[in-house]
Amino acid sequence: MEYYEKEYFEKLVTADSMIFDRFRKKESLNGHWHYAVDQYDTFIRQKWFEENYYDGGGNTLPVDFSFDEWELMTLPCCWNTADKMYMLYEGSMIFTRKFLYAKQNDDERMILKIGAANYLCRVFINKKYVGMHRGGSTPCYFDITDFLEHDNRIIIQADSARRNEQVPPSNTDWFNYGGIYRNIELIRVPKVHIKDFKIALEPDSGFKKIRACVTMSEAVNETAVLTIDELHISEKIAVENGEGELIFEAAPQLWSPDDPKLYDVSLSCLTDTVRDRVGFREIRRSGMDILLNGKPIFLKGISCHEDSVSNGKALTDEERIENIRAAKELGCNFMRVAHYPHSERMAQLADELGLLLWEEIPVYWEVHFWSEDTYSDAENQLTELITRDFNRASVIIWSVGNENSDTDDRLKFMGSLAECAHKNDPTRLVSAACLVNFQKNAIEDRLEQYLDIIGVNEYCGWYTADLRMLPELFKNSDPQKPVIITEFGADAYPGLRGTITDKGTEDCQAYVYEKQIENIRKIPYIKGMTPWILHDFRCPRRTSVNQRYYNTKGLLSADKKHKKAAFYVLRDFYNSIK
Ligand code: GCU
Repeated sequence: MEYYEKEYFEKLVTADSMIFDRFRKKESLNGHWHYAVDQYDTFIRQKWFEENYYDGGGNTLPVDFSFDEWELMTLPCCWNTADKMYMLYEGSMIFTRKFLYAKQNDDERMILKIGAANYLCRVFINKKYVGMHRGGSTPCYFDITDFLEHDNRIIIQADSARRNEQVPPSNTDWFNYGGIYRNIELIRVPKVHIKDFKIALEPDSGFKKIRACVTMSEAVNETAVLTIDELHISEKIAVENGEGELIFEAAPQLWSPDDPKLYDVSLSCLTDTVRDRVGFREIRRSGMDILLNGKPIFLKGISCHEDSVSNGKALTDEERIENIRAAKELGCNFMRVAHYPHSERMAQLADELGLLLWEEIPVYWEVHFWSEDTYSDAENQLTELITRDFNRASVIIWSVGNENSDTDDRLKFMGSLAECAHKNDPTRLVSAACLVNFQKNAIEDRLEQYLDIIGVNEYCGWYTADLRMLPELFKNSDPQKPVIITEFGADAYPGLRGTITDKGTEDCQAYVYEKQIENIRKIPYIKGMTPWILHDFRCPRRTSVNQRYYNTKGLLSADKKHKKAAFYVLRDFYNSIK
């Protein structure tokens, strides 16, 4: 942290600032924003937001900015795809616009919600610093009520610089998109409002009980009313000191990928009412089995990045639906949305269309596991993700990271994250995508003691070229919990054909899939797989003549127009599993 930045790392906005906002009325700030590239951090060095145009004696001062004459960018977006001039730009960019505010109720609070901005996001209103959020893929909420006038200027700084102390650190295998790339909205709430609302089928209740939890914004003693009309349910929840919880009898039709039944629920307390569309299902581990609604399930999955040729991470709903439909065409009931929280729309659409999800925080490769501040960043992103998606039936697994060496610092860091996930959410399973223990060629990682499911990334036939290592790997392993093969795969440039040993051809990729499936299907402790990956995605590390800055392990080309031979190999396997 540079000397001039210190005060702008104060007022950190975290999961504690979140409010429940699904289906709330929102005033959008999406659209044209003036912007400037701020490569040298001049905006905060010179405090441009204070708009000091005159000195104490009323003389005009020279300034190096002109907010309302800057060029326009349409938000939300990733600046990399919005304007090819910024494709490789990483760093600070400043966005500003004006908006009018008229108070409607004396006690109302005005909350600014930013769906996501990568990576540091600072908000300034009417010449004052409001606060900062860190984390490139989770929402942040700022109470801006006390900063507002009738005619307001808002300035948001998005800083996408990669830093090793961040989560993810500076080296990853995906593209570092920058910008404010999910919705920017104003939410008007009563001073005393519903801050959090969690509802789920109660585990081990024979699918006959639902638990609802409410947290109010103030420590009030009140009664909340929960209704699920289709189930003829109306229950009173006693709220004491701002918290209320109720377990009640119910017999909902259970949600599943094949039958994604959702119920409209609403919760009222004092003058506030919130709604949600919720599926009721149970996911749990029993010995070596993963049970969905009490029945063993094999998770027929595929991994997927939040990455689009034309929009970067700022996918449209059409693009998300296209990915879900492609996964279902593969015969999937499951998707690993890697390696960071995708948009909340992804889990909402998976609820509607019927797809189970593995959601993940970007504790990826060489994280600063010894750093307390890095840990609090990771734990906050995990808490924001769980708070955001708790009511989503499609989400069954929280993953605390990917491919991290088994060291003492990492064990403490990721073990604590797993405990945080279990404490925040006793209704779901916790996992991580672990590395193979290469010394032993076995599935063996000390982190397993904290996990319900062991995720393993193994690239036999690709990075581990010798495919004979695969049966050895499975024979050498004796996992005490269900295993999901969270990654295997091979690069294949769309349309490039050759022999099964020609790396980079579709024939080689298809062969790797055939051999992987041939081995995996024989192993009883493997209860799922999410091969790497649904479609090709941008990646600055992949520069060969056949990759051209794309990781080409997709089963589909990046534009999803071309299905590679391996797509059909996986589809046939999944269709062969009842
Ligand atoms: C790793 C990693 C992925 C990466 C993949 C690859 O296992 O988890 O993020 O893209 O392998 O090398 O293609």
